[in-house]
Amino acid sequence: MSPAPRACRSDLEGSHEALEPTRDSVQLGRAAARPGRTGGRRARGEPSGIPEAARAGREIIGGGSKERCDVAQTWGGRFREGTDDALVRINDSLPFDRRLIRHDIRGSVAHAHMLGRTGILEASEAEALIEGLEALLVEVDAGREIEGAEDVHSWVEAELTRRLGPVGGKLHTARSRNDQVATDLRLFLRDEIGAVLEDVRFLARTLVERAGEHIDVILPSYTHLQRAQPVLLAHHWLAYVEMLARDEGRLRDALDRMDECPLGAGAATGTGFPVDREGTARDLGFSRVARNSLDAVASRDFVLETLSALAILTTNLSRLADELVLWSTTEFSFVRLSDAVTTGSSIMPQKRNPDGAELVRAKAARVSGHLTAMLGVMKGLPLAYDKDLQEDKEGLFDALDTTRDSLAILERCIAGLEADTVRMAQACRGGFLLATELADALTRTGMPFREAHEVVGRAVLVAEERGVDLPDLSLDALREICPEIDESVAASLDVRAAIAARDHVGGTAPERVREEIEAWTARLA
Ligand code: ARG
Repeated sequence: MSPAPRACRSDLEGSHEALEPTRDSVQLGRAAARPGRTGGRRARGEPSGIPEAARAGREIIGGGSKERCDVAQTWGGRFREGTDDALVRINDSLPFDRRLIRHDIRGSVAHAHMLGRTGILEASEAEALIEGLEALLVEVDAGREIEGAEDVHSWVEAELTRRLGPVGGKLHTARSRNDQVATDLRLFLRDEIGAVLEDVRFLARTLVERAGEHIDVILPSYTHLQRAQPVLLAHHWLAYVEMLARDEGRLRDALDRMDECPLGAGAATGTGFPVDREGTARDLGFSRVARNSLDAVASRDFVLETLSALAILTTNLSRLADELVLWSTTEFSFVRLSDAVTTGSSIMPQKRNPDGAELVRAKAARVSGHLTAMLGVMKGLPLAYDKDLQEDKEGLFDALDTTRDSLAILERCIAGLEADTVRMAQACRGGFLLATELADALTRTGMPFREAHEVVGRAVLVAEERGVDLPDLSLDALREICPEIDESVAASLDVRAAIAARDHVGGTAPERVREEIEAWTARLA
């Protein structure tokens, strides 16, 4: 009997006996026959598109139990009563796990191949399953609606059985949804993380390009958000490129570690069928098989690792976003963001708000929230599979989407921003940015740095009293503070000289920054 997920079999069969499983009865068929809820399934969710009559369910068995006739599921034989609506609402994962459909079908195709190859199924049966799965994939790609099942795995099996008849129910031989979902999620993450990595590199390339344009632009660096020392804007952009490179490394590490195939682990302990795990792993592009069945179905540290990497990545993005917000204020006016990433105010006609950057800043909290939630889910979970693990998906999906949106917005911000180089140069004056230079120059004459620091501190005090910056003090005024200050020491009070002096790996000297730009350009090509 093939399953009819959205139709009531009771109309056709009408007797208790008809609901007893026969040798050929497909487990999915039991979905239609198993007792179920009384309706209201999506009361709080999206409209299901399922006819009201079907949604309402139908009473077919005595003793007050109900049939759940609108939804395909893979179990039910041992139940007498229906599932409570509230449980259905939190148990059904199809509304979100349908996002795994392509990876689920892919995993099933590899599994079916293995079933045929090993003789667990007849070759013709395996072929029928594979053809059915491939045809289903074509329909999915064409926009076929995915609804009317407990989860994506049940949906695929139900559709397959609807097409092929009882043989569809053979797909699940030597497999459990536990090893299946652990496989789907790894396959899915491989693609999704690949896409995040592309976006990371796109932003990094844009930062490197802008660094090339801004190689002569000088602005203050800040510590404690107080002006500190002059720095090249190019050097500033490249700081974020370094962070993004580490973000990339973290994501690649996560990919490496999740690169093992759980299929064959079954529900918890493996399977009694003579499976070819290595072959399935190879078919699915995994480097290896998971070596412990309990771990294979119970672990989600690959999800935690992905979420951690995304949380760190979006936190890094948030810092850049915050600087763009700060730098585009009238008070700073270091940059002007493009119209594409700013919005106006409904009341204040003059406003140009950096919404894009602000939201990127805020979204980081959301991603680290998903990490925290998942850490909480995993903590204290006994081996092996627990339904708690189903909670891994929504946060993960949202974290991936949010990260990709944030990367895209920031890339647009950086690509389109105009640097106000005059403002930046002005900001290098009046803030005693060269105090370290004067102290260093005195130190080169043999004075202990601590003493030089004290001397320059006094010079800053004098300059402050006169309302000027250090380079504005005359040589005489400087000598009065400290006789060791001669013309060559005073010559250190020059912004470009300060920048050029930092001529070592990691320093802001233009030559060094140029080298870094070249190296990054090559690395990101
Ligand atoms: N929807 C489930 C999940 O995401 C699939 C696995 C269900 N396994 C089970 N034994 N009920 O984890």
